[in-house]
Amino acid sequence: MAMTGVLRPSHVALRVLDLEPAVKHYTDVLGLLETGRDKQGRVYLKAWDEHDHHSVVLREADAAGMDYMGWRVDSIQTMKDLSRKVEESGLATDCCWIPAGEHLETGERFRFTTTTGHTMELLAEKNKVGNCLPLVNPDPWPDGLKGMGPSRFDHCLLYGDDLDGVVKLFTEVLGFDITEQVVAEDNHDFRISVFLSCSTKPHDVAFIRQPMKGAFHHASFILDNWGEVLKAADIISKKKVSLDLGPTRHGITRGETIYFFDPSGNRNEVFAGGYIHYPDKPIITWTSDDLGRAIFYHDRKLNENFLGVFT
Ligand SMILES: [Fe+2]
Repeated sequence: MAMTGVLRPSHVALRVLDLEPAVKHYTDVLGLLETGRDKQGRVYLKAWDEHDHHSVVLREADAAGMDYMGWRVDSIQTMKDLSRKVEESGLATDCCWIPAGEHLETGERFRFTTTTGHTMELLAEKNKVGNCLPLVNPDPWPDGLKGMGPSRFDHCLLYGDDLDGVVKLFTEVLGFDITEQVVAEDNHDFRISVFLSCSTKPHDVAFIRQPMKGAFHHASFILDNWGEVLKAADIISKKKVSLDLGPTRHGITRGETIYFFDPSGNRNEVFAGGYIHYPDKPIITWTSDDLGRAIFYHDRKLNENFLGVFT
C-alpha cells in the first residue's frame, strides 16, 4: 500500500436549522443517499461511489455550521500513533476518544480541536455498505441517482485565526502536503490561505486566515466533468436553490465549480477537474494582489458574498 497514514476525508458533521428540509436538500438537490438515522435524531448520508456507511451527518441545532470533520486513517495502529503525536504536539486541545458506535456503523474516533477552533477526528473503522454497484462486473454508475449525484464528499474550506498553527499540525503531525498557498504580496512568508492534501487530490482541506475561530465556509462534493457542473447549475435554478456563485473555474486547484446554499445557509460546492498531486510536486504560490484570478479565474475579482458569508 503506497498511500498510508491519513487516507481521505471521511465525514463532515453539519448543523442545520430544520432537519427535514435539510435532508430533502442533501438528497433531492445534491443527490446524496440517506443511510441511517440514530437515537439522537442525526441523519447519515453518503455519495453514491463511497463504500463507507456515511460521509455527511446532519444534526438539527439553533445555528448552522460545522460540528466536526472526520479523517479515515489506514489502520487502528495509525490512529493510535497519530493520536499520541497530536496530543504531544501542543497544536491541539480538547483531545478525547469517542467510543465505537457513537456514529452509526463506525469504530472508535480520536477527536481534537485545532488552533483555528475546528474539531477534527481520526478514525480507522467505518463499515462498508457498498457503492450501489456489484464488485464483480460492475456498470459505471448505478440507476436511480437524484439531483447532482456527486460520487464523493471531497473537501472542506474552513476559516480560522491561527493559520500557521493548523498548517503545522496538518503537515508536521498528520503528514499532509501543502499543494497551494496564497501569500501577502509584500511578504511571501505571510500566508493568507493554505490548501492541504493527504492524497493525490489538489486539496482535501483548505484554511483561510480570518479573525475568528471554528468557522465553516463550504463542504464540497466531486462531479465527473464540466458538463455535470453545468447540469448542477440547471438543478439549482430548476429547484430554486439559493445560488452563491458560478459556474466558473478556480485558478487555485484549477477546479470547475459552482457554489450554493442549503436551506440553513451552509454553503455547498460541487466541482470537477483539478490535477493529480504527488508528494514531490512543488508548492504553487499565489500572491494576494492576484487573489481575484486565484479564486475566480474568469471574473478575476473577488465577490464579497463569497468571502464574507460563512456559518
Ligand atoms: Fe472548495
